[in-house]
Amino acid sequence: MSFQPEGIESVLITEDAIRTKVRELAARISSDYQGSQPLLVGLLKGSFIFLADLARALDIDSEIDFMTVSSYGNSMENSEVRILKDLAEPIAGRDVLIVEDIIDTGLTLSKILDVLAARHPRSLKVCTLLNKPSRRKADVTVHYNGFDIDDVFVAGYGIDFAQRYRNLPQLVVVRKPV
Ligand code: IMP
Repeated sequence: MSFQPEGIESVLITEDAIRTKVRELAARISSDYQGSQPLLVGLLKGSFIFLADLARALDIDSEIDFMTVSSYGNSMENSEVRILKDLAEPIAGRDVLIVEDIIDTGLTLSKILDVLAARHPRSLKVCTLLNKPSRRKADVTVHYNGFDIDDVFVAGYGIDFAQRYRNLPQLVVVRKPV
């Protein structure tokens, strides 16, 4: 990093390590979806760089769409997701792969899975770059997982810290917002 952005404590995952992992995930996905044309659903905004790299590393045909959701509440009982931007096309009968930046409590993802499952896709799977297993509150199956990380607050590679640092090519640990 040529500049020292405020609040950054350390580099957690380097650009090289991310590139290697994205290739590994793409190879597995390409092999599992042979003969299919999956719809990659990126959850905005955090997944935009990961999805762009993953999609280019696939050697199968695919389609891409995005959803934007916002979540409220922090428990299983009262968490709600509001769809701010929905998919452009129906997904009935499609192989759908959700592409997420980080799974933290899993509450957002579990609600999105419910919403999308009700639309009767042929298959519905999850790919995430980062996973914080120690924070999990909702039971979600992660089919493709980049890195398990500890309970730290990260930014970079599309992921923000108060809307900043999405453009950093590596993943960094930032001081947790208070
Ligand atoms: P969950 O519903 O708790 O799993 O929330 C996951 C979402 O929270 C991710 O898609 C991110 O948008 C956000 N998030 C969780 N951990 C971090 C982090 O360390 N840095 C930035 N955003 C995070």
